[in-house]
Amino acid sequence: MDRPKKRDKLRAVYSMSCIYENGEKKGAEGIREVSSMCSISEMTDEYLLSRLHDRPRLKLERKKSNDDMSLSLYDSAHSLDGRSAWDTPVFSIKDSFDPNPMVTEAWEALCRSQVYFRGKPVGTIAACDPASDEVANYDQVFVRDFVPSALAFLMKGEPEIVKNFLLKTLHIQGQKKTIDRFKLGDGAMPASFKVLHNPIKETDTIIADFGASAIGRVAPVDSGFWWIILLRAYTKSTGDHSLAERPDCQKGMRLILSLCLAEGFDTFPTLLCADGCSMIDRRMGVYGYPIEIQALFFMALRSALSMLKHDSEGKEFMDKIVKRLNALSFHMRSYFWLDLQQLNDIYRYKTEEYSHTAVNKFNVIPDSIPDWIFDFMPLRGGYFVGNVGPAHMDFRWFALGNCIAILSSLATPEQSNAIMDLIESRWEELVGEMPLKICYPAMESHEWRIVTGCDPKNTRWSYHNGGSWPVLLWLLTAASIKTGRPQIARRAIDLAEARLLKDGWPEYYDGKSGRFIGKQARKFQTWSTAGYLVAKMMMDDPTHVGMISMEEEKHMKPPLRRSSSWT
Ligand code: GLC
Repeated sequence: MDRPKKRDKLRAVYSMSCIYENGEKKGAEGIREVSSMCSISEMTDEYLLSRLHDRPRLKLERKKSNDDMSLSLYDSAHSLDGRSAWDTPVFSIKDSFDPNPMVTEAWEALCRSQVYFRGKPVGTIAACDPASDEVANYDQVFVRDFVPSALAFLMKGEPEIVKNFLLKTLHIQGQKKTIDRFKLGDGAMPASFKVLHNPIKETDTIIADFGASAIGRVAPVDSGFWWIILLRAYTKSTGDHSLAERPDCQKGMRLILSLCLAEGFDTFPTLLCADGCSMIDRRMGVYGYPIEIQALFFMALRSALSMLKHDSEGKEFMDKIVKRLNALSFHMRSYFWLDLQQLNDIYRYKTEEYSHTAVNKFNVIPDSIPDWIFDFMPLRGGYFVGNVGPAHMDFRWFALGNCIAILSSLATPEQSNAIMDLIESRWEELVGEMPLKICYPAMESHEWRIVTGCDPKNTRWSYHNGGSWPVLLWLLTAASIKTGRPQIARRAIDLAEARLLKDGWPEYYDGKSGRFIGKQARKFQTWSTAGYLVAKMMMDDPTHVGMISMEEEKHMKPPLRRSSSWT
């Protein structure tokens, strides 16, 4: 490849590259070498355009709105109008050069957080807080925490660490997994792993945690889904299909799918989980059918569908996936969706309805509707509620699940817009002074005691119980760009920039509006830095969103409903 001419002026911000410990830096097999020494800022528009050509075909449209430039992303496979990506304007690094020292600091922190196995980077440590003696398991590579790091490296053109991570965790999946005397499913992926270095023997070994050591023995249901989603992101970003096509990767995917597509006693297509099975990995009343898992499940199924080989084993899974996707999207779009109209319907529900003609399918008792929702629900807007099960509707808002619903197109375009409307009209509550609330509202008093088991870390407006998590910024940014509303992300990034670096990249913030650094928050939490970098890079080059976003499948049409936010 001809190296583009250096642009000295632009080099500063992005030029820091993560050169691996042993000085080695190779491009991934089967893809064009993108040297780590070639900074993003050195890339000319020509080069960016050639990357665009390699990447999923994305068409960018700039629409002038009154007060802002809004930008919509379409997958041209679904919106071909005879024009190619070349005809449409593309944001270039040149246009968006941002001499923000925070970006440099964030890259430095991210590079420092890299974990090596036999000289190769295989992940990033959860936190490297030099001031904290209390390490707990924050010195491990968490699968979910690595996702924003991985996206940052992919966007920077350094895919090797991501490939190493995918293969290392795949290898860990293949280990024998038991907790006490109980054998875990073959497909289970670890929550985290740690590299132990023996300086005398000069050996590295890995110990993985599948929930046996985690506080409360929680099951990391999300890990397998993130693994599949990341494999797709790697493939999309690099154009290297050879990794996903490897027999061990195909098998790894099938093992994960076997776990979640197994037939059981279920009457719903959603996935039944225990509490603490995802980012919220403590008891928080998210057992049953939590939105975060359902959205990740949906996205992982769609990702797997695009990567499974059409051989006999692959085909068997593809058939199951297609059926499940149809049932899952119908269920989620019908029963998890809440807007003013739907809330009013539930408010007037009859109960104890017997037979398939029941309107109130889950026998939700209107008295169980919490008071806060009546004021919180705006005229325009809606969201997927936290959980739906027999006589159970958790009305809380969860950020990750709703953003993933937008990115995976589990939400229809109208629902996606309604979610963004809600965020805009309930900005104080959901974003406040630090993006973004993990869930809303917090539980207090008696409810907190019963639901969390008196968890002192999850007191009201702290940690998982209504705390604000900077890592969620990348998800909000991706969702804003996908829905053509980048001004929402811009506003959130400005808030983060006012504090994150100064505060030392905390893990989370406390308080109703996220004003205080979290009571027990780690500093230099890697996914806070990575999340910020990913948000910045997506704003600079929105085509990056393509690696983590999917367009709506036309055959998955939403059911006809009366809801006001569905037009
Ligand atoms: C906390 C978070 C979890 C995260 C872990 C490591 O346990 O709840 O989501 O993966 O810390 O950062």
